[in-house]
Amino acid sequence: MRALVTGGAGFIGSHLVEALVARGDAVTVLDDFSTGHAENLAAVRADIRLVRGSVTEPADVAAAAAGADVIFHQAAVASVPRSVEEPAHTHAVNVGGTVQILDAARRLGVRRVILACSAAVYGDRSDAAREDDAPHPESPYAVEKLAAEHYLRMWPSIYGTETVSLRYFNVFGPRQDPASPYSGVVSVFVDRLRKGLPVTIYGDGEQTRDFVAVADVVRANLCAADVPDARGLVCNIARGQATTINALYGALADLLGGPAAAHGPARAGDVRRSLAEVSRARALLGFEAQVSVRDGLARLLAG
Ligand code: NAD
Ligand code: UD1
Repeated sequence: MRALVTGGAGFIGSHLVEALVARGDAVTVLDDFSTGHAENLAAVRADIRLVRGSVTEPADVAAAAAGADVIFHQAAVASVPRSVEEPAHTHAVNVGGTVQILDAARRLGVRRVILACSAAVYGDRSDAAREDDAPHPESPYAVEKLAAEHYLRMWPSIYGTETVSLRYFNVFGPRQDPASPYSGVVSVFVDRLRKGLPVTIYGDGEQTRDFVAVADVVRANLCAADVPDARGLVCNIARGQATTINALYGALADLLGGPAAAHGPARAGDVRRSLAEVSRARALLGFEAQVSVRDGLARLLAG
């Protein structure tokens, strides 16, 4: 397979690139290095074609997508709080970039586009979220991911391109960048505990997330590339288990040692409860998460 991974220098994208290279696929990466890093691709740099550019630029997208069979569209501004602060910018990348990818796919005859969508589309939930439930996006980021997914849903019937939208829940693992104020919670907590710095939990810490290891998310993408029927498919990618942020911090503080966390104000746009129903991914993709949160955290700390 000839694959394009947009955002391939990022956290999830770089793990996906490694897996594709390992199975013998020809891989191109399109990345603007806004949050990605060249070091993330160090192990495979000689085996891939790298296009430095933006998914919002038609010429960059065309150069990267030429000859691809499948596009794994990971590039996005991945942060909820950043979308609250810069909604016009995140819309341009997260929605505009997705339309550029789909448009290039139809013009260049790319067979399939797979989107890194998000659990954020569901908003706050009192029960496990199913793919057919009505979405309730509560941040610009969530609206953007839902809009991008709607494009993928209607695209096959008009243009014939196959599409799959994977609604990742909260992904964690090696190479998740802790350095920005917008970084994912696991990377921030691990980084600060290791440095002996205090951690802040936003709100009361009883908000929940369905954490899933990056190795499982990579496998879900490979399943989505191989599944025979992919005409607007939408699947949750998660473990189907809720963990509170207090419990996450407790588990990491047990493993690394650390003081009690301080609490700050809840973040605007923060979802309170997030949990996935995972049976559709099992039925339609043959995908089931294999790495427990505890094992995933242990692997992360060992690495
Ligand atoms: P990341 O920031 O590490 O990766 C995003 C990559 O996209 C980076 O390499 C960045 O440089 C690149 N990028 C950003 N804007 C670009 C542009 N205009 N043109 C080209 N490249 C651009 O984030 P991640 O956590 O690896 O997220 C990957 C994808 O998964 C994103 O689409 C994100 O919304 C989605 N997602 C992530 C999570 C999670 O928990 N990490 C959960 C749900 C969905
Ligand atoms: C994350 C992803 C987003 C994805 C979504 C799917 C990142 C940066 N964001 O958003 O791309 O679409 O999951 O569900 O990967 N928190 C603290 N202290 C901190 C940092 C965070 O208490 O120092 C809390 C937050 O307030 C939030 C929870 O931890 O309640 C998770 O935050 P975060 O890791 O930023 O992820 P989401 O906003 O859920």
